[in-house]
Amino acid sequence: MDINHILEILTLEEKAALCSGADFWHTKAIERLDIPQIMVSDGPHGLRKMKDNAESPNDSIEAVCFPTAAALACSFDRELVGEMGKALGEQCQAENVSVILGPGCNIKRSPLCGRNFEYFSEDPYLASQIAAAHIRGVQSKGVGTSLKHFAANNQENRRMSVSAEIDERTLHEIYLAAFEPVVREAKPWTVMCSYNKINGEYSSQNKELLTDILREKWGFEGLVVSDWGAVDDRAGGVLAGLDLEMPGSMGKNDKAIVKAVEDGRLTMEELDKCVRRVLELVQKSLDSRTEMSWDKERHHKLAKKLAVNSAVLLRNEDNMLPLDKSQKIAFIGAFAEKPRYQGGGSSHIRSFKTVSALEAVKDIAEVTYAQGFPIDKDETDPELEQQAIEAAMAADKVVVFAGLPESFESEGYDRRHMHLPECQLDLISKLTTVNENIAVVLHNGSPVELPFVTDDEGFKPVKALLEMYLGGQAVGEATVDLLFGMANPCGKLAETFPLRLEDNPSFLNFPGEGDKVRYSEGIFIGYRYYDKKDMPVRYPFGYGLSYTKFEYSDISVSAYELSDKKPFTVECTVTNTGDRDGAEIVQLYIEPLTPTVIRPIKELKAFEKVYLKAGESKRVIFRLDKSAFAYWSVQLHDWFSESGEYNILICESSDSVCLEENVHFNSSVRLPVKLTLDNTDGDIRSFKEGDEMFRQMLGMFNAALNGGADANEEGDLMMLAMANDMPLHAMVSFSDNPELTRERLQMMVDNLNAILNA
Ligand code: BGC
Repeated sequence: MDINHILEILTLEEKAALCSGADFWHTKAIERLDIPQIMVSDGPHGLRKMKDNAESPNDSIEAVCFPTAAALACSFDRELVGEMGKALGEQCQAENVSVILGPGCNIKRSPLCGRNFEYFSEDPYLASQIAAAHIRGVQSKGVGTSLKHFAANNQENRRMSVSAEIDERTLHEIYLAAFEPVVREAKPWTVMCSYNKINGEYSSQNKELLTDILREKWGFEGLVVSDWGAVDDRAGGVLAGLDLEMPGSMGKNDKAIVKAVEDGRLTMEELDKCVRRVLELVQKSLDSRTEMSWDKERHHKLAKKLAVNSAVLLRNEDNMLPLDKSQKIAFIGAFAEKPRYQGGGSSHIRSFKTVSALEAVKDIAEVTYAQGFPIDKDETDPELEQQAIEAAMAADKVVVFAGLPESFESEGYDRRHMHLPECQLDLISKLTTVNENIAVVLHNGSPVELPFVTDDEGFKPVKALLEMYLGGQAVGEATVDLLFGMANPCGKLAETFPLRLEDNPSFLNFPGEGDKVRYSEGIFIGYRYYDKKDMPVRYPFGYGLSYTKFEYSDISVSAYELSDKKPFTVECTVTNTGDRDGAEIVQLYIEPLTPTVIRPIKELKAFEKVYLKAGESKRVIFRLDKSAFAYWSVQLHDWFSESGEYNILICESSDSVCLEENVHFNSSVRLPVKLTLDNTDGDIRSFKEGDEMFRQMLGMFNAALNGGADANEEGDLMMLAMANDMPLHAMVSFSDNPELTRERLQMMVDNLNAILNA
């Protein structure tokens, strides 16, 4: 296609038409110019392609449901997630789908967000790494992705109208930080804007977001598509950089574009930018089409591998797990028979098969089964409960398959609480009184309160807890492999499990008031908050057990004096000291020791997953640069890495530091200084260049106060302490020295500003 030429010969109406979809899943074709349509489909953890001749947009082909994002992130495994991306890419090529919608990279602000299962983490770095791996995998097969939902779509409640009220630093340092490296490094073909507003402006018409930040700052060259139905003012969207409206508005918004051009609100050049990007996407997708077939069973096996590697072992007292086949084992709970392995809404995949734990265990061991509770509602069924108790009494070990019923969490609405159904809690409580060897397997898209892992809350604690999240269609096989030790758990939590919902930092402002939700907790999301407040949590971010043990030793850094000019490395040795092969997720956090702004205690800046045979050691090398020390400066409107002391922490989880090393970072950038008479004496003295000015001021001030006599030493000290928080202009009010005037002080401040900014 000669896009320049096409732009010249398209009519205004045709241009406007190209800026919206033909139907739910296709762009428009312009036959007279041989411009074909392309197809997009959901995403993200499977292909939800609408069938030909489908009766509704949700009537999709049979595909493979991989683990959902909430699970995948716990794998901390870029390579494996990349494999999933490749598999999705193959399916899309085979099915003639040009763009698969996802992954979702929104931050988990509250455990209640109904769509948390589709998002990766509470930590922007981890979310960005897994999203980038997903995108690279898909796009390596010549298929596009749509990084979504850009941005600040952190709740489902009123998602199409709510305004996320976020301060500049929080927006950039947390919410946009999950997207920025993905856009810069993995280069998604498309970005999907979110439904919500940010600080009063819909994302779909937010120029600052879609053009100033996304394109101009981050260098995005692809197409921006609306979330389905997210358009409010279509012409405003074109001006802001929203290229394609999906699914279209039955032509109404096309007419609005035409009218805006005719009325002079939009220029043809502005419209052309969007049309060009639509045409470029069509072109790119045509150029990337290849014949490909895909093997369902191979992808099912990959789904199992991903589920195995994403599962998190949260508790394992007395080596309750792995199970021994020769013992009498009972599986209890409806999810053993019918696993809950994906969430509701647009990501719902029609799996070509699912394997339950009960089916998978048949080849491994003999187990008895009791359903225990109804799968779809929170109602105790005394008969089911009694059967379960009897099965537990007759068994050596019991595995309870618990979790959230489908109706508890979905796209489109948020949870109201963090509890498991009462009927399940009641059953677990009763089972622990008849059998002391209880393990719980969880199927949930987001954290739940876990009263049964402690004796503080009236429970006899269960011995083991295995978190499978919504682990995809092969979750049953994966669970059985993990329970019986054919596989060794190696996932770690990508989010904190608080003790109770009320502990979560967003609690007071979620989901907001009417159409506004204030992100008043600021940058203190997830572990950044619990850490800073030194609060106990049920399970911390980055936590997960294994059937083997790891030891950390020999940290070294390539230099102790670091600068923004030169990247550096941090190394350590990890040894598998147990008798089973396993994988460890080594986490590197940075702790600022001398910050001049409010900062979290520590932040994740790198991680590696290392596979180690029993007894094996490996050296892990992290490559870092100044960005490891950065925060978002509202003075610079940019990232800033401040000079100072930092600890580099090598951790096995966010609350367990194994090794640390202290470094000094020297920045060549200085924040601009704009001191005014509202600054305090303390502010002046915080600069060594301010000493002279301070001495002069104090001299003038003391001279007046002491009737012209020199202050004695004690008086000086008192003055110093008092003056520390006194604004400069107040010195004038408290001094009758005629030389101490506002004008004089202003000159001194101007002089100091000049020295400091020189
Ligand atoms: C969802 C998107 C999805 C789209 C198409 C929207 O409601 O928010 O994530 O890709 O529908 O199904």
